[in-house]
Amino acid sequence: MSALFSPLALGGLDLPNRIVVSPMCQYSAQDGVANDWHLQHLMQLAFSGAGLVMIEATAVEARGRITHGCLGLYSDAAEAALGRVLQAARAVAAPGTRFGIQLGHAGRKGSVTAPWEGGTPLTGAQADEAPWLCAAPSAQAFAASWPVPEALDEAAIEQLVDRYVDAARRAVRLGFEVIELHCAHGYLLHQFQSPLSNLRTDAWGGDPERRDRLALHIATRLREQVPAHCVLGARITGTDWNPDGLGVEDAVRLTLGLKSRGFGYVCVTSGFVEPNRGIPFGPGFQVHLAAEVRQRTGLVTRAVGGISEPAQADAIIASGQADQVALARPFLADPRWVWRAAETLGEPLYYPPPYRRAAGLRKPAVQANA
Ligand SMILES: Cc1cc2nc3c(=O)[nH]c(=O)nc-3n(C[C@H](O)[C@H](O)[C@H](O)COP(=O)(O)O)c2cc1C
Repeated sequence: MSALFSPLALGGLDLPNRIVVSPMCQYSAQDGVANDWHLQHLMQLAFSGAGLVMIEATAVEARGRITHGCLGLYSDAAEAALGRVLQAARAVAAPGTRFGIQLGHAGRKGSVTAPWEGGTPLTGAQADEAPWLCAAPSAQAFAASWPVPEALDEAAIEQLVDRYVDAARRAVRLGFEVIELHCAHGYLLHQFQSPLSNLRTDAWGGDPERRDRLALHIATRLREQVPAHCVLGARITGTDWNPDGLGVEDAVRLTLGLKSRGFGYVCVTSGFVEPNRGIPFGPGFQVHLAAEVRQRTGLVTRAVGGISEPAQADAIIASGQADQVALARPFLADPRWVWRAAETLGEPLYYPPPYRRAAGLRKPAVQANA
């Protein structure tokens, strides 16, 4: 059996393989509420064959959205709409596929247009696109031309932690088996962790332990509130790609803190806490970071970024660099990526009966032409 298609025990959860659909914002919701776009998006990924399907960064409060189109889990309407999507996805899911949700807060990177409209700060020029005041560790804008966010005070931080707990409770009610804390990509928890964006001198800033404190405080509260059968994990930063920012030491320290609080995995990504940083995108460009975190912490570790070929994904698992691989854009381009991987690696796979006659057609061109 290939390493990629070997099962994995993630906490108490048995996953049929090591393939994860990476969380992907769709920027298509209204006031946090999912609709038919999310329905089709998740239904096609539900029977993709990936062992775990992660739902996009979902805001714990309205001002924690990146755009007006971001999903939220801060209202009964949003909970009900996501429940409909999840129920439909489960109904068509491949055997053993599990569903998780990423809880996020954009912090100072919120109140922007969708990426296809430039991803720049809202100006209010459109009546339905009113900007809002963003929250952050410090009153420091993401970029020179961006609005200055509001630095959270002690009371606001405690309220924010409650919002995470509320959203997690909703996620549990919906039956998600995995809840992931988004601590990366320059969003709020990353803003607190990185010295590039956290300029505080109180108990929530300064040395590394104080900068980690918010993520770990939320982690503690979530583990207390979320039933043990639900796996908690986090997406973390392996490096800010800036010598003055976070590095792999910080990732290891945060991971150990999460592990000691009962978190079951980390997904190691990087960058985006500041604009215009030269991130060396390329095949597997973050895998070495995951490998180091895994080796030094012993926690289940997921690699992501530039993983697109079945043999590459299999080698990452087989060589012990990571326990899982997450793919994002490859699943948008090809929701049948797992079929191609299974056929390339010679693995048996479940095909939904109505689609079974397509089995065998996803072999890579080099083999098909041989
Ligand atoms: C359309 C899109 C939306 C994304 N939304 C999220 C998100 O909600 N949360 C997150 O942690 N990363 C998000 N990402 C980043 C991906 O999960 C992934 O880390 C990144 O694209 C690298 O993986 P890839 O090379 O397989 O695309 C998004 C990426 C894309 C392309």
